[in-house]
Amino acid sequence: MKAGDTVVLRIGDKSYTLPLVVGTEGEVGIDISSLRALSGVITVDEGYGNTGSCQSAITFINGEKGILRYRGYPIEELAERATFVETAYLLIFGELPLPTHLGEFRRLLSENEFIHEDMRHHFEGFPPNAHPMAILSAMINALGAYQPVLLQPEEDEHFIDAAARIMSKVRTVAAASYKKSLGQPMIYPRYDLQYVPNFLHMMFSKPNRPYEPTQEVADALRRVLILHADHEQNCSASTVRMVGSSQANLYASVASGVCALWGPLHGGANQATVNMLQQIHDSDMNVDDFIRQVKDKSAKIRLMGFGHRVYKNYDPRAKILKKACDDLLSKLGIHDPLLDIAKRMEEVALADSYFVERRLYPNVDFYSGIILRAIGIPMNMFPVLFAIGRMPGWIAHWRESHLNPSARIHRPRQIYVGHTERHYIPVNERS
Ligand code: ACO
Repeated sequence: MKAGDTVVLRIGDKSYTLPLVVGTEGEVGIDISSLRALSGVITVDEGYGNTGSCQSAITFINGEKGILRYRGYPIEELAERATFVETAYLLIFGELPLPTHLGEFRRLLSENEFIHEDMRHHFEGFPPNAHPMAILSAMINALGAYQPVLLQPEEDEHFIDAAARIMSKVRTVAAASYKKSLGQPMIYPRYDLQYVPNFLHMMFSKPNRPYEPTQEVADALRRVLILHADHEQNCSASTVRMVGSSQANLYASVASGVCALWGPLHGGANQATVNMLQQIHDSDMNVDDFIRQVKDKSAKIRLMGFGHRVYKNYDPRAKILKKACDDLLSKLGIHDPLLDIAKRMEEVALADSYFVERRLYPNVDFYSGIILRAIGIPMNMFPVLFAIGRMPGWIAHWRESHLNPSARIHRPRQIYVGHTERHYIPVNERS
């Protein structure tokens, strides 16, 4: 099939000719945007499992074959060789940066790493046990109030500034929210450190005891962030595009992405995975018994970190993270019993017909939590780390839809299944 081909849809005794859309990797979609106008009929696709909400040039996934590429570059190559900052630049602007562009982007990241002193007072308003995702989304939205001139960046010159501000400050806010939860003073960023080590410094340094991240730790976190940087039209990226489609500003749009990411079926899954592994460990439960419970639908237990809407094969990110997990733990000399349980679980599940038939494999969350644990990141910060990693992807999606000349406000339709017309009855006459 090629661009220009059409498909004929028959509804009752009428036929409608609809155009096909063909992507650069041969994916084919039926453009039904004129269907309702032509026929009065809409399509229904609860959960959007079969709906292409846009055409996008950012990320390619082939879930059947386990392929993931950012702007054409295989995830394996980027995870092995790229920095997080150049990956972010690639996602947002479409090309790997030239040395001068990378230097300028790094300079902007460094210059924007402080948050406005007034913003520090916002932290005081949150209760001590506030979830850091609640703080993060609120603070990102509030950041917009401090840069009103950058709220609708139309030109790359302004846009790069806004993108760098958000990417840089999100890590400062994230580390500050962690410090607040500990009752420790916020640590200022260091101009001499690169993106990932700077974040680790703000997380773990104390005024009386500096923390110097090792190369192994910084490298493991670099990989985690790159692997989370984008994943095409997932729940949070679609949320960012949806919110941005109303012409909402970049800050408000990516703050909504943080909220969407918070749920346990999305960005909260790595935390849920470690919780699950910990419970199995603490209760001395046998892995085979746990898998039996998962298969018993009445128990309503899912194997967290397994299964994916798109991947019906091993998630390529999980493959990289499994090895990164082994490497990091052995370099740090850590023996984590949860890793043993996870590996045994994978072995049992992948040999079991329940998982084989449903094509359920480990996803990105299965091993990432164990890496974050080894680095010393507390569990309630796991989704925050995901959000820091995903920020370039959200920014790229906002920009792509914002620059699309044919973009319209996102407004799905529905099939109404409620009451048909009925009439108001005063309260004292109701039975
Ligand atoms: N454990 C046990 N059974 C599962 C699992 C799982 N983790 N995932 C799917 N299934 C089963 C379902 O019960 C269903 O079985 P059925 O056909 O007998 O009813 C079948 O596999 C299909 O599952 P769906 O829920 O229809 O798959 P969907 O695409 O809607 O959900 C999801 C994908 C949410 C990721 C799901 O696999 C899940 O809940 N996994 C655990 C949570 C998780 O790891 N989330 C992280 C996803 S990756 C990310 O967001 C970064």
